[in-house]
Amino acid sequence: MLFQIPDVLSAEELSQIQQALAKAEFVDGKTTAGWYAKQVKHNQQLKRGATPDLEATVKAALSRHPLFQIAVRPKQIHNLRFSRYGVGMSYGTHADNAMMGSYRSDISFTLFLNDPEAYTGGELVIEAADDEKAYKLKAGSAIVYPSSTLHRVDTVTQGQRLVVVGWVQSLVRDPAQRELLFDIDTVRRSLFAQQGKTTEFDLLSKSVSNLLRCWAE
Ligand code: NI
Repeated sequence: MLFQIPDVLSAEELSQIQQALAKAEFVDGKTTAGWYAKQVKHNQQLKRGATPDLEATVKAALSRHPLFQIAVRPKQIHNLRFSRYGVGMSYGTHADNAMMGSYRSDISFTLFLNDPEAYTGGELVIEAADDEKAYKLKAGSAIVYPSSTLHRVDTVTQGQRLVVVGWVQSLVRDPAQRELLFDIDTVRRSLFAQQGKTTEFDLLSKSVSNLLRCWAE
């Protein structure tokens, strides 16, 4: 599933992160790319672990978001990278590494940290079998997509693109199973909003729990 999450970060969190990044030292992004991605990765990143407080803010913001919770079922949000693309920078077509340290990457996300008006180019382009689609979201919003896709970041031709990217190991590895859980859970919540705690709601809740028991790892 590919979806957008609006307003992951509050205005205060966004401004705190922007201020910290304005003062921070960035390094060449090639340092964390796989051998073939190195050839196409032209960006800058904060040193890993240099800003544990910013990473904690982003993880907490994603974790509290109900859509992220029920669509992604995160076991671990890992390898956050604050990235900067100045004029002429891009990240050519690649798929994300399956394993990052001891974590699997099932789902990737890009959380935009400055507004689309601040730069030209710099779209995140995600390829499908017969088409591709470009994304450039407003500051504080995120796009979540399968780590298995081919994707790229087009060249920035003006201004500066600021994002934080990261990966998630899901409790439920199979995307089809995650989608089933998402659909049933969405119906369950909608039913509760309309009719409260009915027998039907109870049965759907039981099914969500029992499917998760079967599939979670
Ligand atoms: Ni990528």
